[in-house]
Amino acid sequence: MKFFLDTANIDEIKAACSWGVISGVTTNPTLVSKEGGIDFYARVREIAEAVNGPVSAEAVSLERDRLVAEAIELAKIHPQVVVKVPMCPDGLGAVKELAARGIKTNATLIFSVNQALLAAAAGAAYVSPFVGRLDDIGEDGLALVRDIAEIFAGYGIGSQIIAASLRHPAHVRECARAGADIATVPFKVLKMMFEHPLTAKGIAQFNADWEKYRGRLA
Ligand code: E4P
Repeated sequence: MKFFLDTANIDEIKAACSWGVISGVTTNPTLVSKEGGIDFYARVREIAEAVNGPVSAEAVSLERDRLVAEAIELAKIHPQVVVKVPMCPDGLGAVKELAARGIKTNATLIFSVNQALLAAAAGAAYVSPFVGRLDDIGEDGLALVRDIAEIFAGYGIGSQIIAASLRHPAHVRECARAGADIATVPFKVLKMMFEHPLTAKGIAQFNADWEKYRGRLA
């Protein structure tokens, strides 16, 4: 399973890329708005230059032709841009047209197997089931990822599954077990994934013993 970073913050992206584990970035309008008065297009370009992989930038129009026009502009920013398109009839109509034009899309706000199947049928390169938001309303987000993965594999469907809306490291682990191709993780969750108390204790012990050894040589 690959890891994408779910953020529009360039410092987080640069830090995570320097750790060697990030293959792409996803953004959404909420994440962009958290960055204050940035130039969205300039930020998307900066992200694409920082990460060696796909960068999802969201189109927000709700009508098919407007979505297509918006997506074409977003795709011009950088060859790595993947246009996030909302799950709705016009959205999927745009996905179909964009696929014909060679523009990759990420169907976002997927909350059911049927939505994922429709997005794949329209030609979405990626589908993004939102795990945490389903859990928030008492449904089973991980079961959705598992079901989509099983059905896509059974039919040989090529759209990749990006497990999104992940809230904690256990979500990531379980999405890997469920067969997600990619987990898009917030920076905070990525940092937590590195941590284990025995790792921290082991590093401290090894460093202390190394200092003892060096002290004996002095
Ligand atoms: C990523 O593609 C999604 O937009 C994001 O993971 C949503 O996360 P949230 O439910 O925490 O807002």
